[in-house]
Amino acid sequence: MMKTEILTLLRESEDFISGQQLCEKFGVSRTAVWKAIGRLKKEGYQIEAVQNRGYRLAVTPDAFSEAELASRIHTAWAGKRLHYYGRTDSTNLRAKQLAEENAPHGTLVVADMQTAGRGRRGRGWESPAGTNVYFTILLRPDDINADMISILTLVMALSVSEAIDETAGTQTKIKWPNDIILNGRKIVGILSEMSAEPKYIHYVVTGVGINVGTQRFSEELAQKATSLEAELGHKISRAMLVEKAMERFEENYEIFRRSGDMGGLKESYERRLVNTGREVRVLDLEHEFSGRAVGINDTGELLVQTEDGVMHTVYAGEVSVRGIYGYV
Ligand code: BTN
Repeated sequence: MMKTEILTLLRESEDFISGQQLCEKFGVSRTAVWKAIGRLKKEGYQIEAVQNRGYRLAVTPDAFSEAELASRIHTAWAGKRLHYYGRTDSTNLRAKQLAEENAPHGTLVVADMQTAGRGRRGRGWESPAGTNVYFTILLRPDDINADMISILTLVMALSVSEAIDETAGTQTKIKWPNDIILNGRKIVGILSEMSAEPKYIHYVVTGVGINVGTQRFSEELAQKATSLEAELGHKISRAMLVEKAMERFEENYEIFRRSGDMGGLKESYERRLVNTGREVRVLDLEHEFSGRAVGINDTGELLVQTEDGVMHTVYAGEVSVRGIYGYV
């Protein structure tokens, strides 16, 4: 789309770009360029036009639109196909539908607002408009089994944690398996799902919700949830978060692919793991025990050592892990 490419050029150039340069670059008329600029303005971009100099983009820290995202994502496959919704039920549902329609590996669905945001354990995910990030990526790994889903979720948690730190200068942590924590409270939730149809089991959708701007959470969540802007006190670009998340995810996914497990990413993941060295209580359907978390293994299970010295491997999805002093 020319509009997207013009936006990329304007963002990357520190100076004015002349109308003539744009015409030559795209091989179109001045009128066509002028129309594309007009469409960008309609989407809220402030584009300065000065006679004899050309066009320049004013800083727009929170532009969040299809053109904005497409002009930033330059990965080989992660997010290369983009579906943007101002409002949708759930990006996970959209991604599953696209998967059934044969959308390729790496297809990305982004929304500004969700009316039926899904959380883990059948819960919902608060998804107001204009302030947070909701996205889902469609993955078609070479081999799918139940372990794969939880590993892909860990790969995403690592990638989003890195992306947030690059964008916001934070030092976020991961609460195993896949919550991202800032100052002891949750800022990101991740939900992976796979197709329920046996004949189409060859894909996974991994959905990410990043609390960027929410200032007040419901009473139920206020103790354990927070947002980037509430913690930092200034604006964070949502589009840059998605851009960086795609970059980090593409790279980490390739590392995962080489071994088919968490082996190559374990160290990076463990550096961010908030549970390490802490007492955790593990609850599953049958029993409950406490121990000290020491790290993860190659399949992404949490290693928990009990007082008798025995090392237990805790499988994601089956259990809930609580810090004994509260949420983390
Ligand atoms: C959790 O409960 O921690 C997981 C929350 C996952 C929320 C994200 S928002 C984008 C994607 N679409 C959904 O409906 N859910 C995920």
